[in-house]
Amino acid sequence: MSTVHVMDHPLIMHKISILRDKNTDTKEFRKLAYEISLLMGYECTRDLTLVEHPIETPMGATVGHFIDKQVAIVPILRAGLGMVDAMLELVPAARVGHIGLYRDHDTLQPVEYYCKLPPDVAQRQVLLLDPMLATGGSAADSITMIKRRGATNIRLVNIIAAPEGIARVQEEHPDVDIYVGAVDEKLNEIGYIVPGLGDAGDRLFGTL
Ligand code: PRP
Ligand code: URA
Repeated sequence: MSTVHVMDHPLIMHKISILRDKNTDTKEFRKLAYEISLLMGYECTRDLTLVEHPIETPMGATVGHFIDKQVAIVPILRAGLGMVDAMLELVPAARVGHIGLYRDHDTLQPVEYYCKLPPDVAQRQVLLLDPMLATGGSAADSITMIKRRGATNIRLVNIIAAPEGIARVQEEHPDVDIYVGAVDEKLNEIGYIVPGLGDAGDRLFGTL
């Protein structure tokens, strides 16, 4: 069974609370999503493997530590885009793939419309980004798509998750660890996270 890493950092909790607020406008929402992703990126890269290489400082020779595994950042469109810049800030050499999925409003089933991943994704540590993990359908299908391209090291990063979504990803992909800013109470009858923050894509891009 995979591990669920729930962020308990006061800065993350503070920023998620403002993100949730219905009075937070699009500009502020985008900025907060960036800042939260930056903090979560620090946590979800905590145990990346390092290799040693000799380096020269102005004072002499020493051993430097460098990230061993190449990283692939993969946002789930649209809302995952709001987390990309922060992750790239932390890992500028990462490659970026995109998965296009939207949830059919009636069936709540994810509908796939785009998938473009780095050709060497199989060799990379994949960070799959989506602010919301609701039923878990979008994340579970995205992970399946990434695994079909050979990737074996995948981490899912969500700002807010429902218990139902976590359970589904763990059931379908027990090898994928989940990094989540907050675990909320439940899903409502139309598949929205409660208390959640509403529709992440709409709030991020001002399409409410
Ligand atoms: C939202 C969100 C996730 C998905 C979560 O996207 O960004 O991708 O819903 O729901 P699930 O866990 O039940 O699958 P949405 O489908 O609204 O698409 P959008 O980002 O294009 O608006
Ligand atoms: N997608 C969102 O953007 N918000 C939810 O609460 C559930 C799915």
